[in-house]
Amino acid sequence: MEPECPQKSPYVIDVEPGTYAWCRCGKSGTQPYCDGSHAGTNISPEVVKFEEKRTVAWCGCKRTKNPPYCDGTHSLL
Ligand code: FES
Repeated sequence: MEPECPQKSPYVIDVEPGTYAWCRCGKSGTQPYCDGSHAGTNISPEVVKFEEKRTVAWCGCKRTKNPPYCDGTHSLL
């Protein structure tokens, strides 16, 4: 299944240290994070852990080649 495309730009968010599950299927209602909506698909979230506070550009188009981060691919859509 092709992922859905919630938006053709990244979600730029200041995140606290912790573990995050980036939605890969595009169906989550809590973008850019997984809410379990991938159930029944063959897609699962990308889980990343940050030790320090940082600003993350989460891919919103779900077509990045460097998940979960925006790599500019959205500009080709
Ligand atoms: S939002 Fe997907 S590559 Fe930028």
